[in-house]
Amino acid sequence: VEWTDFERATIQDIFSKIDYKSVGHQALSRCLVVYPWTQRYFASFGNLYNAAAIVGNPKVAAHGLTVMQGLEKAAKNLDNIKGTFTELSVLHSEQLHVDPDNFKLLADSITIVVASVLGASFTAEVQAVLHKFLAVVVSALGKQYY
Ligand code: HEM
Repeated sequence: VEWTDFERATIQDIFSKIDYKSVGHQALSRCLVVYPWTQRYFASFGNLYNAAAIVGNPKVAAHGLTVMQGLEKAAKNLDNIKGTFTELSVLHSEQLHVDPDNFKLLADSITIVVASVLGASFTAEVQAVLHKFLAVVVSALGKQYY
């Protein structure tokens, strides 16, 4: 994957402007509410009974932050996202058995939350860069599936 200077700068800019904890919490909650079948992987998280329970579940909040920290690693290793996520891909496929279609759903949830946080500065050009970044992440996470 090739990154232009604008794309590199925009990715760093997005990550510098967002609060990982809040964005991660909101994005994972949104994913679990909008695409309820994604809840099945989080049986150990306890009560995910409805939207309020999901948003109020501290394990969801903690895991949202974990996901964003994973994304930060990708943002800091743009030239080797695949290599950066090899272990994470193995974990999601061989241990967690997460259907890789779900990666895109979480990526879309992240996009919506980032858009709401950045407001007017989330221009179409910025969205295009975030979309490309998340598409590369989704592809890297799916790499170890066969
Ligand atoms: C665990 C990242 C998508 C389900 C993790 C971990 C990270 C991570 C960093 C912790 C790994 C560790 O403890 O070593 C990501 C990223 C995603 C993504 C960056 C996409 C943007 C998904 C999706 C699902 C999922 C879509 C399910 C629908 C899980 C589960 C765990 C996990 C069940 C283990 C949680 C636990 O028991 O603590 N993920 N993930 N992940 N992920 Fe993902």
